[in-house]
Amino acid sequence: MSKNVDFDLLLSRVNEIINDFQNEYEKLKSICELLKNNVDHYDWVGFYFVGNTEKNELVLGPFVGEPTEHVKIKFGDGICGQAAEMKDVFVVQDVSKETNYLSCSPKVKSEIVVPILKNGEIVGELDIDSHKIEPFTEKDKLFLEKVCEIVAKIV
Ligand code: SME
Repeated sequence: MSKNVDFDLLLSRVNEIINDFQNEYEKLKSICELLKNNVDHYDWVGFYFVGNTEKNELVLGPFVGEPTEHVKIKFGDGICGQAAEMKDVFVVQDVSKETNYLSCSPKVKSEIVVPILKNGEIVGELDIDSHKIEPFTEKDKLFLEKVCEIVAKIV
């Protein structure tokens, strides 16, 4: 559970990744790997970005975990699309209770989506699926918001 995770250490490693030699895609992929490999209840970690032409659509970016059919998601659709409309963190502790949900795998039991904002506008999201029910705490939310603030500087 998140109480055993050293989120401060992970944040410093996110900053190291941001400042290293990799290109943008590699940095984002490395952040996904860092998060998935160090937090037990993060089973799928990925970025979605607002489309270049379709501004009301999210397009899948770097991710780690099982491939998903949801490579494009309209604003308002699913947990990701709702978070994009709200421009706010959306935590669903039990996806079986969420009617507006796009399933990627029956293994997924919960999800947290954190917007990436630039000048108050949504440019993307960090999406995390978990195979556990009710795994996310306030610590996850605060940590992931900080990750997204850091990522906002390079996208
Ligand atoms: N479950 C998401 C779709 C994206 S996958 O989790 C990767 C949703 O309901 O928006």
